[in-house]
Amino acid sequence: MSHEKLETNIGWMAILIAVVISFGGLAEIVPLMYQAEAIQPLPGVKPYEPLALAGRDIYVREGCYNCHSQMVRTLRFETERYGHYSMAGESVYDRPFQWGSKRTGPDLARIGGRYSDDWHRVHLGNPRDVVPLSNMPGYPFLAKTPVDVDSVISDMHALKTIGDPYSTADIAGAPAALANKTELDALIAYLQGLGKHAPRG
Ligand code: HEC
Repeated sequence: MSHEKLETNIGWMAILIAVVISFGGLAEIVPLMYQAEAIQPLPGVKPYEPLALAGRDIYVREGCYNCHSQMVRTLRFETERYGHYSMAGESVYDRPFQWGSKRTGPDLARIGGRYSDDWHRVHLGNPRDVVPLSNMPGYPFLAKTPVDVDSVISDMHALKTIGDPYSTADIAGAPAALANKTELDALIAYLQGLGKHAPRG
């Protein structure tokens, strides 16, 4: 009887559905607030160096995340293919994080060091030169575009404001670190750092 009343009253249904969903949310979110692992960087994980930070911005700008995730799941076929599953402590300095779930291409969380810089240079210019059946777009313009130093410096200031431990010297050193670098150099520096501090295995 009362059940039928609930099911036919949209007001009560909406309120009770909201209650049920908020319990689900609490069960997922509250434990994370108490798990140090979720908020502390893994050993060796530091804020991005200026060149890799520039590369990360280019990765986001070009929408690489539309085809690539950066999160190895805790499933055997994933860890056998990519390496150790992703840990929250790896991406404390990723704002916004690039975990994603869309995989038109492979996951990139463990791509650092898997290929040489030269391989990436050719692949990002025209993927079909190294992977004939690839449907990834080419980004030949990156090699011709210098890194925008001012935007990297503002980015570092912004990240420092929200708590990333950049020192004044780190920021002052950015122009030298970025001198004569192209967007392609930056993107490759970023890719080569991915997964560097992940546990082995
Ligand atoms: C339209 C989808 C798409 C977009 C957008 C895309 N990729 Fe890919 N990517 C792929 C596919 C498919 C592959 C697998 C074939 C290949 O290696 O080219 C791949 C492969 C890769 C690989 C080699 C991975 C491996 O494990 O062998 C890297 C590195 C990579 N992409 C980086 C990027 C970067 C950086 C961007 C953004 C500038 C990007 N991709 C944008 C689809 C995409």
